[in-house]
Amino acid sequence: MSGVAHSYMSDYIRSLIDEEKGILKELQEFAERENVPIVQKEVGNFLRFIVTTQRPKKILELGTAIGYSSILMNLASNGKSEITTIERDEKMISIAKKNISNHGLDKKIKLIEGECLEVLEKIEDKYDMVFMDAGKGHYNHFLPHCLRLLNQDGIIVADNVLFRGMVASDKLIKRRKITIVKRMRNYLELVSKDKNLITSVIPMGDGIAVTTRRGTNE
Ligand SMILES: C[S@@+](CC[C@H](N)C(=O)[O-])C[C@H]1O[C@@H](n2cnc3c(N)ncnc32)[C@H](O)[C@@H]1O
Repeated sequence: MSGVAHSYMSDYIRSLIDEEKGILKELQEFAERENVPIVQKEVGNFLRFIVTTQRPKKILELGTAIGYSSILMNLASNGKSEITTIERDEKMISIAKKNISNHGLDKKIKLIEGECLEVLEKIEDKYDMVFMDAGKGHYNHFLPHCLRLLNQDGIIVADNVLFRGMVASDKLIKRRKITIVKRMRNYLELVSKDKNLITSVIPMGDGIAVTTRRGTNE
């Protein structure tokens, strides 16, 4: 299993998704060669689906890596979504900047260098979508900022929330991952128990949680 679903299931689901072309294919190959973690194929397809249906004008991403998911979301929006993405790793920052500018996307994808929490504390803009894909052990700390920055109808997509199944089953927990697992469980409780929010946890890839605000009549 490369995620939380059985391999036969994820292999089948992936077989239904078209192969990427052009820049996204190149970036996938680079990520594979250089061992850079980027969204799994079905998660990339899910982001594409969300961007196509929700049409977010402004997206905030935590965790740029080489810029793959930022570029994917911008392309999925036909270039209409503006993305702000945060990354702390200098090597990743330099590769992502090159990828973004080589494809003429500097005006659409803004990379902010730094620790997510420190950057989030300073941001004042509002976003229609937040994609959390950095610092698995800190989603619970990022959440209050993400909610503050999220427009009323906005949506938060958090990746890796089941963390190789460890979040769902104590039997799978590796001892050195206990803190991450506890904090991720705390994140899932916060977004699931808050009466103002509605969250759907999907066992896709490494687990995704999609959160939005409830309607006022509920
Ligand atoms: C899974 S990768 C992001 C992949 C990217 N979203 C994609 O799918 O193309 C996570 C990235 O977040 C960065 N990161 C991890 N913790 C961070 C933090 N606290 N602040 C900023 N960046 C962080 C890592 O350096 C890494 O490049």
